[in-house]
Amino acid sequence: MQKVNEIKNMDCDFIPLVAQVMEIRKRGDVPLAYIRTYGCQQNVADSEQVKGLLSQMGYEFTDKPDDADFILFNTCAVREHAEDRVFGNVGALKALKRKHPSILIALCGCMMEQEHIANRIYKSFPFVGLVFGTNYIHELPQLLYNCLVNGKRLVVRGNKDTTIYENIPTRRDGTFKGWLPIMYGCDNFCTYCIVPHVRGRERSRNPENILEEAKQLIANGYKDITLLGQNVNSYGKGLPQENKMTFAQLIGEIDKLEGDYWLRFMTSHPKDCSKELIDTIAQSKHISTHLHLPFQSGSDRILKQMNRHYDRAKYLEIVRYAKEKIPNLSLTSDIIVGFPGETYEDFKETLSLVKEVGFTSLFTFIYSPREGTPAAKMDDPVSYQEKNKWFQELLALQESISAERCASMVGNSCKVLVEGVTGKENILQTRTSGNIIVEVEGDSSLIGTFQNVEITSARNWILKGKII
Ligand code: SAH
Ligand code: SF4
Ligand code: F3S
Repeated sequence: MQKVNEIKNMDCDFIPLVAQVMEIRKRGDVPLAYIRTYGCQQNVADSEQVKGLLSQMGYEFTDKPDDADFILFNTCAVREHAEDRVFGNVGALKALKRKHPSILIALCGCMMEQEHIANRIYKSFPFVGLVFGTNYIHELPQLLYNCLVNGKRLVVRGNKDTTIYENIPTRRDGTFKGWLPIMYGCDNFCTYCIVPHVRGRERSRNPENILEEAKQLIANGYKDITLLGQNVNSYGKGLPQENKMTFAQLIGEIDKLEGDYWLRFMTSHPKDCSKELIDTIAQSKHISTHLHLPFQSGSDRILKQMNRHYDRAKYLEIVRYAKEKIPNLSLTSDIIVGFPGETYEDFKETLSLVKEVGFTSLFTFIYSPREGTPAAKMDDPVSYQEKNKWFQELLALQESISAERCASMVGNSCKVLVEGVTGKENILQTRTSGNIIVEVEGDSSLIGTFQNVEITSARNWILKGKII
């Protein structure tokens, strides 16, 4: 039988104790923290909880590591490149610790959940005082207290507990765009992917808590709310019977909340993407017309090897249904090029699927072996150089499709959310419900507001428009 998720409130006893210690230890007027986040939105949301906790412990935030009392890197393990960046940047902190011995340097997140990485960090970077895995955020006050008071190095990882801690404070980076985690972990074990190994088993938050947080976000003026999970379509597994809800029902309930806002979600797994969900989007008031639906490969043979549990035909059927029900649907996807054993024939199936669907944009990756995953042990005869050639071919194809899609929008008008400045004088960056960027002329006082714009021109995947 499926274990019911346990939902607990956090123990806050150590928060005032750290605040007292830092009152004495701080280098400047207030204790300062520097937090750097790598990886996906789940990590961004985790860092927002870390910042919420640090705020309660009296810390303020700086973007200069040199000024900080506490430096934390929240790391990502999804590809080798992400890990290499972390190793490089951590190495550079050695001089800082020498200059300011009282600072505490810490690493957390997905990379730290891998034993070989945690060991390497412990051995190679003696100036790193604290390492904690993805399932320890609720323990941060206690961990900090122990490091600061005892001066001992701490490494905690591998917590298999699936309890969800509900009252961790959140200090959001944005004032009008907000991340709202609805579930944690992943049970899918795609053969290439490290995420289930570093984030643990899938567990869903209580719908009431999610709805309450959504309500607060809307009341606080958030205009663009993204529901987060590695596979939001399987939301609800393991919830107690009285709280049972599908993802379609959950997002349908949130959509009923009054207000002027957009609701997004990521990521959807094609194997669980239901018609019920698409119907809910089609009938909703606030859910964006954007569906991010990673297909990874267009070849059925490779999809099987990837353990994705759908085939090309099923993917295309969802896309057909979604396009029929949702006018102006904007589709995006993730693709892996060069999975072990993939041939050029397989890759051509990916190209043909890309042509057939007509995505707005794509997130494309060259396969990166992850220690401990089944794919890392598979034969991988194609050279990196060859995979890179295929990759370039895919980029060129998508570029022409994006350009065509964008060009077809010229003359249309649509609602956009003004997100920020562009660096070009008086030009603002805005985004459509379909997640397409539109540059418009305007004043920075419009940031965080919805506007109606007319699309006046297109360049590759960027649109230009004017406010009407
Ligand atoms: N849970 C999400 C994605 C998480 S990782 C989902 O299932 O869609 C984000 C993307 O990184 C994946 O969709 C995949 O395209 C890519 N990715 C994951 N592991 C990878 C690996 N080992 N090498 C290359 N790309 C990878
Ligand atoms: Fe990784 Fe697959 Fe889970 Fe996505 S669904 S996080 S790709 S194992
Ligand atoms: Fe990276 Fe962890 Fe996200 S591995 S992609 S930060 S879940």
